[in-house]
Formats: sequence, C-alpha cells, structure tokens
Amino acid sequence: MSAKPGLFKASYHDENDLLPFDLKRVWTLLEQCHKLDLAISIGVSNFSINKLENFLSFATIPPAVNQVEMNASWQQKNLTEYCKAKSIIVTAYSPLGAKGTSWGNNDVMDSELLKEVAQAHGKTVAQVSLRWLYEQGVTFAVKSYNKERMKQNLEI
Ligand SMILES: NC(=O)c1ccc[n+]([C@@H]2O[C@H](COP(=O)([O-])OP(=O)(O)OC[C@H]3O[C@@H](n4cnc5c(N)ncnc54)[C@H](OP(=O)(O)O)[C@@H]3O)[C@@H](O)[C@H]2O)c1
Repeated sequence: MSAKPGLFKASYHDENDLLPFDLKRVWTLLEQCHKLDLAISIGVSNFSINKLENFLSFATIPPAVNQVEMNASWQQKNLTEYCKAKSIIVTAYSPLGAKGTSWGNNDVMDSELLKEVAQAHGKTVAQVSLRWLYEQGVTFAVKSYNKERMKQNLEI
C-alpha cells in the first residue's frame, strides 16, 4: 500500500481504498437498521437546505435530526425554518462558538452584547447563549469537562 505523495501526510491510505460516498445507499442501509430496530432514530449532520432537498427526494424515512453548527453568532435562520417545516429536529453543535478549539472562535463568549444581557439577568454569557438556542426550539450539544460549567449549562 503506498500513499500518493502530497495527497495524505500519513501513509495508511491508498487511493484505491477510497470509495465515492454513496449517500443514497448509506441511507437505505440506515433505514433498514431502523426497520430492524437496530437504531431507534437515524439522522444527518452538516446538511444544508440544498442537501436536505435532494436527500428528501429519495429518503423513505426522513432524518430525525440534523446536527449543524449553530450559535448566537451563526444563527442558521433559514435552515432552522426549513427543518421545522419538515419536522426535522435541529441540534446545535458548538453552541458556545467552540472557543479555544481549532475550528471555533470567540464571537459568542466575548460578545459585548451578550455580556450586557447576561449581566442584566444575573446569568453567564454561556447561559444566555444556550437559553437563546432553547428559545429557537432547537436542541443543543454543549460540551464541558468542568463539573461546575456542566451544572451551569443546565440552569438556563
Ligand atoms: N457534527 C459535527 O460536525 C460536530 C462538529 C463540532 C462539534 N460537534 C460536537 O458538538 C459538541 C459541542 O461542541 P464544541 O465542543 O465544538 O463547542 P461548544 O460546546 O460551543 O464549546 C465547548 C467549549 O466551551 C467551554 N464551555 C462549556 N460550557 C461553558 C460555560 N458554561 N462557560 C464557559 N465555557 C464553557 C468548554 O470548556 P470546558 O470544558 O473547560 O468547560 C469547551 O472548551 C461536542 O460534543 C462535539 O462533538 C459536532
């Protein structure tokens, strides 16, 4: 097995090992898992409206959930309306903007406006941000390794 120079840094892949992603086939198999009670719910992640439109043209079981990045600075208004109309639950990932990660930024946690709102309500910026998501009718996957912050994130 040899890696194509420049394509992968690690050499555990061969170009011939890579298959085109066949979404229709994958979803058909997931639908079978659901029908066999091997999966209670099946869903997607990072699907735009265009992707969902195409997807719903062949899916016999629509996705229960679409997990996408969503937070006070990346509000996903069109997508959430679309999903609501199609009865697809939206789960917001990086609900606090994933500050301190390689993909996130500080726009939510360092927002002066959110700080003002938080201060006015005796809450933290994280709590105000999560409450905003809750009020949009979406679910969210907030992550913390800190027990106190986990507790705080429940008290919205
Ligand atoms: N489907 C996808 O493509 C995708 C992509 C990215 C992420 N995700 C998932 O989404 C989940 C969460 O996203 P995320 O980790 O990117 O972002 P996030 O929940 O917006 O941010 C997590 C960061 O915020 C901190 N934090 C948590 N609660 C806080 C609070 N109350 N006050 C201050 N800081 C707080 C955490 O630090 P401490 O641990 O120190 O509290 C952690 O560094 C993860 O489970 C991840 O797997 C999914």
